Amino acid sequence: KKPEKKNSPQSPASCKDCREDIKKALQLYSQVWKKDDDNYQKFRSQLSHKCHGLEKAILTQTNTPLGSKLVYDGEKKRTLQVNKGIFSTFAKEPLFSNKTWHTCAVVGNGGIVANSSCGKTIDSAQFVIRCNLPPLSNGYEKHVGVRTNLVTANPSILLEKYAALNERRRSFVENLRSYGDSMLLLPAFSYGRNTPVSLRALYTIEDFKSPIRPVFFNPAYLQSLAVFWRSQGLKAARLSTGIIMTSLALELCENLNLYGFWPFSIHPYSLQDLTNHYYDDRKTKVKVHAMPDEFNFLLRLHSQGVLRLHLGDCE
Ligand code: CTP
Repeated sequence: KKPEKKNSPQSPASCKDCREDIKKALQLYSQVWKKDDDNYQKFRSQLSHKCHGLEKAILTQTNTPLGSKLVYDGEKKRTLQVNKGIFSTFAKEPLFSNKTWHTCAVVGNGGIVANSSCGKTIDSAQFVIRCNLPPLSNGYEKHVGVRTNLVTANPSILLEKYAALNERRRSFVENLRSYGDSMLLLPAFSYGRNTPVSLRALYTIEDFKSPIRPVFFNPAYLQSLAVFWRSQGLKAARLSTGIIMTSLALELCENLNLYGFWPFSIHPYSLQDLTNHYYDDRKTKVKVHAMPDEFNFLLRLHSQGVLRLHLGDCE
């Protein structure tokens, strides 16, 4: 495996709004990275103590029995009592308990990973997590890899790209092929509007016999994560998928590598303009997420040797 290219950081020339953020980020990032086992164990045990991701992140028939009450994490007043129909959609077995991976990659969708040549390094991780059904073909594979063990899907994608799965569903199933038999994680009980479309996604996958395995986020886990990060000082209306998956991965993985996390509009080394995503320039909802603040927390964990952020190219 080739080491990450040692680019020498330059101070950013453009990007009016984020010049200072980038300068600070590069100062922290340019220090030589070394895993700090004590810091890693400490942070991981804080997270597991407060959030219990391994047992609780995903709704299963064990952690959420028939008759239990789900409280939507995005709409606290909305609840749903688990009836037989809903219960039958939950995973039959615990998915993570007692299983930890030696190396994991969480791939954010930031434009920074475009042209990074990190595909092979990402694919060499034992467990690869991706966010929001990102494209993995048409040349992207060289930079983001092709393997996936877990991929999330924000229901807004299902609404916009697949007519909320109310019309023909074949293109949805065909596009899922690139994720093989990975888990597809849906926030079905975060907002009321998410539930019917997430159930339709699960029914579609079952009816078309797609190998991907749909599972639902436990809203109680998402709520506990929001409380955890708030207690760390992060102020955001909603956590982004990227920080949610990073938090889960910190419980799941001994060595965690992050790619595609860089919420700024210029590249830290080449100083070229970046699109928001590696595959399009759809903007982040700034009223909902606090990506630069989240990034500072991730950078802090990087500098503490808890996880490793990758901003440079891989070969
Ligand atoms: N991300 C990043 N920098 C970017 C774009 C994305 O760090 N320029 C990270 C964020 O953590 C984000 C994740 O990559 O959550 C996935 O990106 P995206 O699909 O853009 O997430 P959002 O559309 O913001 O949606 P969500 O509400 O699911 O987080």
